[in-house]
Amino acid sequence: MDPASIAKLAYVVAAVLFIRGLKLMAHPRTAVRGNLLGSLAMLLAVIVTLVNVIRFEYIIAGAVVGALLGAILALKIQMTAMPQLVGLFNGFGGAASVLVAGAELIRGAGEGVNPYVMLTATAATAIIGAVTFWGSLVAFGKLLELKMFKRPFSLPGQQVINAVLFIGVLALGAWLVAGGDTSLYLVMVLVASVLGIFLVSPIGGADMPVVIALLNSYSGLAAAATGFVINNSVLIIAGSLVGASGLILTNIMCKAMNRSLANVLFGVMEGGTLAAAADEIYANVRSTSAEDVAMILDGAQRVVFVPGYGMAVAQAQHAVRDLGALIEERGGTVEYAIHPVAGRMPGHMNVLLAEADVDYDKLKEMDRINPTMQTVDVAVVIGANDVVNPLARTDPNSPIAGMPIINVDKARTVIVIKRSLSPGFAGIPNPLFAAENTLMFFGDGQKAILDIVAAMKEG
Ligand code: TAP
Repeated sequence: MDPASIAKLAYVVAAVLFIRGLKLMAHPRTAVRGNLLGSLAMLLAVIVTLVNVIRFEYIIAGAVVGALLGAILALKIQMTAMPQLVGLFNGFGGAASVLVAGAELIRGAGEGVNPYVMLTATAATAIIGAVTFWGSLVAFGKLLELKMFKRPFSLPGQQVINAVLFIGVLALGAWLVAGGDTSLYLVMVLVASVLGIFLVSPIGGADMPVVIALLNSYSGLAAAATGFVINNSVLIIAGSLVGASGLILTNIMCKAMNRSLANVLFGVMEGGTLAAAADEIYANVRSTSAEDVAMILDGAQRVVFVPGYGMAVAQAQHAVRDLGALIEERGGTVEYAIHPVAGRMPGHMNVLLAEADVDYDKLKEMDRINPTMQTVDVAVVIGANDVVNPLARTDPNSPIAGMPIINVDKARTVIVIKRSLSPGFAGIPNPLFAAENTLMFFGDGQKAILDIVAAMKEG
């Protein structure tokens, strides 16, 4: 067998491993194995690709700089900033594709490839890659909750401007394919960059999960397009897999938020409920103490924990598991209600609870737990806010209107653990905190749970 055929065979093996890895990632129990298989596939693809390299100096320099930056980022990053980092990596994927396709265009390469296919793929890379990079940077800013990005921003007639930019960049692409100058590529990247910023800036409130999933998909599509530019089958396959799985995830996120993709992308968000309403809503908030919560939990038969972003901030997952075990020791049952967009990245709560060795069988998805919420004695909301906000059901003007929530308000008693009455990611007040069956336990999530555990042990 000649080296080219061996490489092709190895790429097929890598592709099969990618697909098998993705399949295993569908369940928490097999996810780690899936991840390993995916990494193995990537290693194989990289090794086979390197075999064909003639000069290594640039590769080594790039790998050293990249590995250093990656290692520093991964070591320094706080666990709570993981979603931002993942968002940024999507963006880097887009940027890398733009650079590779641009370099190929300048080099005038593409032997053995139909020039129209190569140029079309190059144009597609410029558009998707640049939109992904700049869109991801804006999403990064929004996830960091930077003031500049936090509020949705749009210009008057934004959708018309976006349409003009999109048609313009497509026309430039057609010109490039028809034999235009290579400098058109740079103009395309510039126009697509502005489009990327304009597309993500107006999206706010609670719709970011959809955007993150979509940008993830775009980064894959950009890589697949680059695969056509450099005629590399494994890049086409891996890119398509990321693109397709990202689209499936986008669809899941849209369903979780009960929104159509068009509505998220083109429906410009307006402020939401007025901030002044918060004082009115919170007129009758009742707060509680660790001792009182311990007493309530002691007598409870069925307890459901509802974790949210604040549990990640407080790193309270281990303490929550210990409290759950204590309740079970005293004869109660414990479950964990998981909202699909709780936290800041898909599967965020599952990852945290798995890290704390919480039994998978105790994690209940929103659709499964909601119909039984009336029979829950105590719902303990730990650092969750938007995903338990009844305004989603009652206020059609709220940024989370129509989003299914975990119906904790239907439980007999609700304990909400958070530091203050501050809003969650969507920036709106939450009437749950003032409901008749709700008690607020103000404090850092981890400390509050540890205090409850101590009080239960003492009591
Ligand atoms: P949020 O609505 O963001 O609320 C989190 C709450 O945690 C805050 O109200 C905060 O209140 C509290 N908190 C923060 N630090 C805490 C600590 N140390 N101890 C205790 N509480 C703490 O979270 P959620 O309910 O999980 O909803 C997720 C939101 O993020 C949704 O709007 C969703 O659309 C959006 N989002 C999700 C994703 C994905 S894919 N999951 C991606 C982007 C955006 P205090 O400050 O008063 O403590």
